[in-house]
Amino acid sequence: MDKQNVFAGRSLCVIEDFSKEERMYLFSQVKTLKQAMEQRDEQKLASYRIDDKDFGIYEVFLENSTRTKESFRNAANFHHAKVSEMSAENASFSKGESYADTFNTMIGYYNSIFIVRSKVEGLCKYLEEACSAYAQRNSLYRKPAFINAGDGKHEHPTQELLDEFTFLEDNNWSNDSLHLALVGDLFHGRTVHSKADGLKIFKSVKVDLIAPEELAMPEFYVERMKENGYSVRIFSSIEEYLAQDDIASKWYFTRPQLERMGDRILQKQEELRRSITFTKEFLPKIKEGTKFYHPLPRHKVTPTIPTFLDETPLNGWERQSINGMYVRIVLLSLIAGRIGSDFVPTVKKEEAVREDYITEIDLTSKPMKEKHVSEGVQPIHNGIVIDHILKGDNPGEIRRHMRLISTVLGLDEQKGGDWVSTGNDDQTYKGIIFRPGSYDLDRKQLKRLSAVAPGCTLNLIKDGRVIHKFRLYLPPRIYNFEDLACTNEACISNPEQNEGVPAMFQRTKENTFVCAYCNKTHTFKEIWKRHNK
Ligand code: CP
Repeated sequence: MDKQNVFAGRSLCVIEDFSKEERMYLFSQVKTLKQAMEQRDEQKLASYRIDDKDFGIYEVFLENSTRTKESFRNAANFHHAKVSEMSAENASFSKGESYADTFNTMIGYYNSIFIVRSKVEGLCKYLEEACSAYAQRNSLYRKPAFINAGDGKHEHPTQELLDEFTFLEDNNWSNDSLHLALVGDLFHGRTVHSKADGLKIFKSVKVDLIAPEELAMPEFYVERMKENGYSVRIFSSIEEYLAQDDIASKWYFTRPQLERMGDRILQKQEELRRSITFTKEFLPKIKEGTKFYHPLPRHKVTPTIPTFLDETPLNGWERQSINGMYVRIVLLSLIAGRIGSDFVPTVKKEEAVREDYITEIDLTSKPMKEKHVSEGVQPIHNGIVIDHILKGDNPGEIRRHMRLISTVLGLDEQKGGDWVSTGNDDQTYKGIIFRPGSYDLDRKQLKRLSAVAPGCTLNLIKDGRVIHKFRLYLPPRIYNFEDLACTNEACISNPEQNEGVPAMFQRTKENTFVCAYCNKTHTFKEIWKRHNK
């Protein structure tokens, strides 16, 4: 493997795994390859080929697919590589085997790239971690790479690559600006979720979201688009969208997945479909040069892009689908290290900044005595006092949360009390937990307390004096605690999956926590789901 090649051996689990400039490089390669394919330029094509019959590319599709599976299979065959497909129905999952054990087995047989589609969100990210460790401990010469071919409602990064390529193709290769209407089931559609980060390759982005409330884009992705600097507008139907003048010249339709939404929605399905289906009456309102796209498949009875449009210049979806194979040939070529060594990144990856979320207050000059902790509470002689809990919240919520803190810290069986008070400086409520006794909280316990009671202060009291006082803030990452859980039942780290994957969260700018596997947003209270049940 070429060590200079930044693409070699890389996984693509979410679109952000490849930076904007890496994606632009990939697109320039796809453009060249597509021309070479069309001109049958064999010499040029050979420069992309892995051309190694021992290089293993494995397709593992645990959900149905035509385009992604077949374009990857044809792309892999182009490479003259060893192409395999796992038959999910006959695999040992039915005997209760875990994903890690299943994929590790195939890695042991010298397979290097895995293309995985599954309902389980974040599966590829987890496999990359688990299977790299397996490859290392078994001295396998190549670390496996994983390509997410669609995971539940989460992401579909290779579809995003081919969508971006097609938009650029239709933008005369300019990435200056994009005005895109996203129409359809924006709630379930993983292809539109990948757009929240994917469209960042364009310098100026305007996104119009067209869906009835029941199929609306999840708030997390809308916020992400805004954070990324996109201008975002929301409409409940195509009719409402066309009643105003600022209409996009690119429309991206998705298939409604109403079957996932229960009886209440099914009763309204005709109305919902009408709001996201294009009809003849809308044609006069469309600008000259407009293109329609669709990741496909479209439904043969109720397509959102009706078939009478196939023969019109609006049809961008057929070329979009064909582009899928070119994009996937280049992606495999990059990950195999066959091309890409001439790419030199100009943008440095941001280094993680170490944050002091646990700060100890210096008491050496003036040791503090815990005098008036609060009304009705006797100062304790030895023990801990956790103060300022949920300051500013209402008393009921503060009491509920103190019970959670007590459980998370293992203080339920100790003597002491929980109190709701108002601060000395203002009249807002806050919680205080007292536990008399002998306590010595280590760094890990302080981290737990920061994560479950951000904004609190912790006083360690000995012989009537405060000997240590800490102020605690939300940590940037929370992981390595067995009682954390992602609340998304489709996530690989959810306990219901029984895969033994520990939950891991990253703090956002809004001080919420996103699951490192499926990106679901949580408040700091929700991540302790095992206690919240
Ligand atoms: N676009 C897409 O993912 O289609 P398939 O489900 O047919 O792979």
